[in-house]
Amino acid sequence: MKKAKLFAAGSAAAAAAAATASAAVFIKKKGICVPCLLRRGTAAVQMRASTGKKYDNGLALTPPMGWSCWNLFQHRVNEKLIYEMAVALKESGLADAGYQYVNLDDCWQSSMRDRDGRLTGDLSRFPSGIPDLVQKVNALGLKLGIYSSNGTLTCEDLPASLGNEALDAETFAQWGVEYLKYDFCHNIPLPTRAPDIDKISISAVGSSDELVFEAENGQLFGMARIEKDDQLESGKYVTGLCSGNGKLYFPDIPVPEDGEYVLTIGIRKGGDMEKYLEIKVNDTEVYDLLVPATKGWTHEGRMQLRVFLKAGSNSMILYNPIGSRYDSAIRQYTKMGELLKRASAKVAEETGKPEKKIVFSICEWGRNLPYKWGAEAGNLWRTTPDIQANWASIMGIYEINVHLWKYAGPGGWNDPDMLEVGNGNLTLTENVAHFSLWCMMAAPLLLGNDLRRFVVDGKADTSNPVLKILANKDLIAIDQDPLGIPCRRVYTNGIIDVLARPLKGNRLAVCFLNKALNSMRVKIRLSELAEKPDFAFPAADKYFVRDAWSGEETVTTDEIKGSVPSHGVRVYVVEQHHGE
Ligand code: GAL
Repeated sequence: MKKAKLFAAGSAAAAAAAATASAAVFIKKKGICVPCLLRRGTAAVQMRASTGKKYDNGLALTPPMGWSCWNLFQHRVNEKLIYEMAVALKESGLADAGYQYVNLDDCWQSSMRDRDGRLTGDLSRFPSGIPDLVQKVNALGLKLGIYSSNGTLTCEDLPASLGNEALDAETFAQWGVEYLKYDFCHNIPLPTRAPDIDKISISAVGSSDELVFEAENGQLFGMARIEKDDQLESGKYVTGLCSGNGKLYFPDIPVPEDGEYVLTIGIRKGGDMEKYLEIKVNDTEVYDLLVPATKGWTHEGRMQLRVFLKAGSNSMILYNPIGSRYDSAIRQYTKMGELLKRASAKVAEETGKPEKKIVFSICEWGRNLPYKWGAEAGNLWRTTPDIQANWASIMGIYEINVHLWKYAGPGGWNDPDMLEVGNGNLTLTENVAHFSLWCMMAAPLLLGNDLRRFVVDGKADTSNPVLKILANKDLIAIDQDPLGIPCRRVYTNGIIDVLARPLKGNRLAVCFLNKALNSMRVKIRLSELAEKPDFAFPAADKYFVRDAWSGEETVTTDEIKGSVPSHGVRVYVVEQHHGE
């Protein structure tokens, strides 16, 4: 260690710091075996990468329900339209049926961030500002959702959040937004390269004293190794931290009191590539650093960030865990999810008002297998490309999503995209099928049509056939069943599918889907479904069967059968029959 001036020379902390650095050298001299260190280092880092820990913000215990402007209006949005839709959600009775979120999608933003760098609503289409819209929507008893992209721009090329995550999360929380759909356009993956490091130093905020730790004195794991460079003051640097291959570890960084400190990372400049580094402090907090492609007259670069340290000894691990685009997507989405949680908690603390938590909707179209990590990063994850208002699109999306049932559950849902019910050229039968399949799959129910059509003179037009579909209580109850177990396809011959979904109270929802161009008769024996161990659907002498669309109730000893129209479904809710 060359300098240890953070604290008065000769202080206990300075002595401890000096001891730490030499202890690291001492340990290496003693020859601690690399495999032991490796195991320790790897385990510590994996804690964050894959803990199996749910996102767990307490939201979306059943799939979110609401309305979004994208499917029908795309860029043609303004504050009047959104408010009218919120009013229609209420007056149509759909809000009472469970639809709570009114979601802005792309194109709510101005192309300009404000003077403080904050996102701002389109200046002439949302002249009253988003916070005003939030208040109005909240006054109806509804929640406002918003949209951004995990990229430099949104899909419609407006400002987005990559690189501005903390500020944007804070802005949304301050506005009182309660849902964020986070898209993937203009994404830039995190680099797999890590900077070479010659030292790190800690200083108190506002002080010029730096407590310096030479990288060569840190503990090295994996491929991390020391190389020479005479043009560096220290003459040496640590390299090999790329792609999760190596780690540089400082076990004991002493500071006098809890608080924010400046961490300066001395990097060796060079290489025409951006680089990435994570710094894990005390095995809990993870900070990240993007290092630009660097070249210059000098070799020594200084990258700074503010870190929170606790009084006494602190540990720090420096590494780059990104080995692929897949890793990058996980990190970037996880980061935004964490920031949203912090932002809403911080706003609640500052205002003394109840926390408005934010549903986090991951929308990277299924590219990086989000069903495998989505439940740790957010509340729902798109599993497919964009939906369109035609039967082929709905079938294509269903085919992808139906296989993914085992990944979804309370707090984290597969998202086969927003509903097109009432849009495009879908027939009423197809609308019924589309809605039923989404309910069977425990999909979020985000309406995408013009809700104003459901209201006449401020009242629900209960004769409207599309409203009848979207307000069907039996179907909504299937979607929102508290067990949160999506359906499984228990039979298919390519034309007829049979889906079954366990419901609370040992009940089962059964759906027949007919993809053919003519109607088909379908039947299934309930005793076969009762044999499936994890359905918790006990075999019985008699079953009570309710047709969820017609409301017709029957009793059967085993078989349910029905005629299913072309591109249509039949949906039944079945339970053991107790009466005579
Ligand atoms: C797509 C997304 C759509 C919509 C659109 C907005 O990437 O899948 O649902 O949000 O961007 O530009």
